[in-house]
Amino acid sequence: MTAHIEAASPHTMNTYARLPMAVDHGRGCRVVDVNGKSYLDGLGGIAVNTLGHNHPKLVPALQDQIGKIIHSSNYYHVPNAEVLAKKLTELSGLTNVFFCCTGLEANEAALKLARKFGHDKGIANPQIVVYEKAFHGRSIATLSATGNPKIQKGFEPLVEGFIRVPMNDIEALKKATEGNPNVVAVFFETIQGEGGINPMRIDYLQQLRQLCDERDWLMMIDEVQCGMGRTGKWFAHQWAGIKP
Ligand SMILES: Cc1ncc(COP(=O)(O)O)c(C=O)c1O
Repeated sequence: MTAHIEAASPHTMNTYARLPMAVDHGRGCRVVDVNGKSYLDGLGGIAVNTLGHNHPKLVPALQDQIGKIIHSSNYYHVPNAEVLAKKLTELSGLTNVFFCCTGLEANEAALKLARKFGHDKGIANPQIVVYEKAFHGRSIATLSATGNPKIQKGFEPLVEGFIRVPMNDIEALKKATEGNPNVVAVFFETIQGEGGINPMRIDYLQQLRQLCDERDWLMMIDEVQCGMGRTGKWFAHQWAGIKP
């Protein structure tokens, strides 16, 4: 079985330690492998397939769209993107949406915004507070923001401009940034996913919000893994009554 699956994928780069199983199709919360064996899908594409497989409303909607137009580029207005953006602003209480294809791109955009925010304030070397055990993606900048040496190893030199602190310790954050005029933002996961299931405490999130307001820092939240309804609210930070 193992040999069969390995032999079946000799042309893809060996970047993941894959399990010896290949999924053929799925329905709802079950998947079926290429040998016809059925499994309960406890992973959901690493929590991506929140509606399950072969959803009776999602599939026709996707088919309908592909039958109309598959891609029209950013040179033109995209009416459906506006509809979705309006919905997201209503659910988040924020003002605008930037669409991209992956979590790391969203995070790259956030890091760029923070640096731009700093430069606009006359800060030549802006710094961003990030967390121990954080995971923000595998591009050079986002792996530098990630707090896991295993993910960074072999890809040095890392991108500079990050200050790393432990979670849920406001005094540690104050100490790490004391007297530093270059700090422009705090960047974090409300609940760390890849680093373990590590939630930020509600009172810590509220203290963070207050500190960001006092010091004119951006609060930037990566909810790639804990957002979109997965905690019972649309965004996990909404449990603390705060906005990024
Ligand atoms: C919290 C968090 N941020 C960012 C990412 C990166 O997302 P993507 O794999 O879509 O680039 C992940 C992926 O697991 C994640 O869990």
